[in-house]
Amino acid sequence: MRQTIIAGNWKMNSSKEVVNTLVMGILSGMADVKSKVIVCAPFPYLSQAEALATHSQLQIGAQDLNVNASGAFTGEVSAEMIKDFGVTHVIVGHSERRSLYGETDEIVAEKVQVALDNDLTPLFCIGEQLEERESGKTEAVVSRQVNAVINRVGIEAFKNIIVAYEPVWAIGTGVTATPQQAQDTHAFIRRLLADHDSDIAQSTPILYGGSMSPVNAEELMGCEDIDGGLIGGASLKAEDFLHICKAG
Ligand code: PGA
Repeated sequence: MRQTIIAGNWKMNSSKEVVNTLVMGILSGMADVKSKVIVCAPFPYLSQAEALATHSQLQIGAQDLNVNASGAFTGEVSAEMIKDFGVTHVIVGHSERRSLYGETDEIVAEKVQVALDNDLTPLFCIGEQLEERESGKTEAVVSRQVNAVINRVGIEAFKNIIVAYEPVWAIGTGVTATPQQAQDTHAFIRRLLADHDSDIAQSTPILYGGSMSPVNAEELMGCEDIDGGLIGGASLKAEDFLHICKAG
């Protein structure tokens, strides 16, 4: 039985005041949440989020990392640094990083490796663009993305990896994949993993992301191979986020 995991991706949103209200709001409703819950804060707010979430079941994630341990990399943040702030999870390969910052499958695979080497759980994101779906390339794209990571870290490493399937056309658009579209791709991803190891395929969490909301969360997470959500917009309101957490 896979545990449901709900991760909030705040992206480049927040302020000290918002972090305070948001985290306190989430914590106030966590008592009856059975899912594992993570919030991925922008780097400057990790310390504040960690302090607010101390002694709670809420876990803190970062949104990216640099592959180097330290040195002359102006503007970058290392795995060790985020760990210093009690971070347990890190988003790797989000479609915004891939498309806006040129992260290739190889860079993403290296980041997954560095996260694992530092005992951080990668939230490893994959997903196709609209034109790729429309031209029937969804399976080829997610295969390429998953295989790049398997080739780098090996299938055993998936014991410590959370996969997030996020169709790019559904991110921030209000257009969610239908439960059937999402389930079909999740099942395909699980089969990809099963080609290497069927037990690991069964135990790997595969989250859905892309306009998940209080309205559609229950139906999406009711699908056999959807083990939770990576939530952008709806993670910025405690009430909406909690609603999704409780749907899982
Ligand atoms: P969204 O973002 O929920 O706003 O679509 C999801 C994500 O980018 O992780």
